[in-house]
Amino acid sequence: MWDERYSEPGFAYGTEPNDFLKEEYKRIPAGGRVLCLAEGEGRNAVFLAEQGYEVTAMDLSEVGLHKAQQLATDKGVTIRTQVADLADYEFGVNSWDAIISIYR
Ligand SMILES: C[S@@+](CC[C@H](N)C(=O)[O-])C[C@H]1O[C@@H](n2cnc3c(N)ncnc32)[C@H](O)[C@@H]1O
Repeated sequence: MWDERYSEPGFAYGTEPNDFLKEEYKRIPAGGRVLCLAEGEGRNAVFLAEQGYEVTAMDLSEVGLHKAQQLATDKGVTIRTQVADLADYEFGVNSWDAIISIYR
């Protein structure tokens, strides 16, 4: 379903980050490792990478994450992407300084 949706032209949720994230991201330690859950096409992940964070974006949708990588390249930043299902995702131990989960 999400692969289909993200196969449409453009960005389903735009390329600007979520408003709350934009207001609050400075609470995350500078340069920290941030995991973006169900990140879709990458608008929040790319924004955080632009702020200097080390970002991993995970999502079920390979198509969405491919677009996230393209957005990162267009903006001149690097993000790591992982196609994975939250139902059995391994978060690791002490792996993240922040984990964000934004629906829209
Ligand atoms: C409403 S979109 C939000 C996308 C992104 N967080 C944003 O704010 O632009 C919901 C996202 O959840 C992802 N998703 C749904 N179920 C999932 C699951 N079980 N594991 C990982 N991602 C999932 C979808 O692929 C989709 O990208």
